Amino acid sequence: MTMRAEPMTDALAGQWHHHLLSASASAALSAEVWLRAAPRSQDRCIDLGAGVGMLTVPLSREVAEMVAVEPSKALAARLAARAREHGASEIRMETVPITELVMPRQSCDLVVSGLALHHCENAEKRALVARALRWLRPGGRLVIADLMPERKGSAGRRGFRLGGPDSSGRGRLDRSAGRFIPSTLHALRETTATGSFWAEAFEDAGFKTMGHRQPLPGIGVVWGTADPN
Ligand SMILES: C[S@@+](CC[C@H](N)C(=O)[O-])C[C@H]1O[C@@H](n2cnc3c(N)ncnc32)[C@H](O)[C@@H]1O
Repeated sequence: MTMRAEPMTDALAGQWHHHLLSASASAALSAEVWLRAAPRSQDRCIDLGAGVGMLTVPLSREVAEMVAVEPSKALAARLAARAREHGASEIRMETVPITELVMPRQSCDLVVSGLALHHCENAEKRALVARALRWLRPGGRLVIADLMPERKGSAGRRGFRLGGPDSSGRGRLDRSAGRFIPSTLHALRETTATGSFWAEAFEDAGFKTMGHRQPLPGIGVVWGTADPN
């Protein structure tokens, strides 16, 4: 499958992922999401926590309809500006938190999320996976890329640290790793979950043909398909 995600320059990555990923790491992560998402021209797609649209903008060129969920009005405005700049198709903006997003049952084919869901508590993550399954048509896909510690004390390539799993087996960011989440980025909550946590959430929700890969240290991609029958 050809990777058609938008070319990422270091300057662009620096606007948002500088604390997390180099340009090549961002490209590798986008490629993994793209592979699992397998966007099709007839798809109706939702990007949860769209930011400035690293996934939204290239996806919008491939699918029939694109919805970007981004609660920050400033980021939503930047996404819209970037979409115009890159000649993207029309994108519907939903400036609400993911937890408040309301979508009709079986109304879309693809739900993606890139590096956003660590801002949700683990109970919210589980609930979201179950809600996403209801939004998907039969055969639809949910693809989530997020911070996913692999094991206790796992370290990222650029020197950031993730805290070990807590008693529930789910990790939390180590806030002392100052480079990881700069203060300007979020006074938001940050709760990471392991690939196993996500796999269990997908399974409990009723997803079929699930998978999980760690394309980068501390960053995983999980995916699943809504029962095609
Ligand atoms: C690291 S950025 C990633 C943005 C984009 N997905 C990307 O890959 O470039 C995290 C994004 O999640 C958004 N976010 C945080 N909490 C959220 C929530 N509860 N609902 C929706 N988006 C949220 C932030 O506003 C931010 O745009």
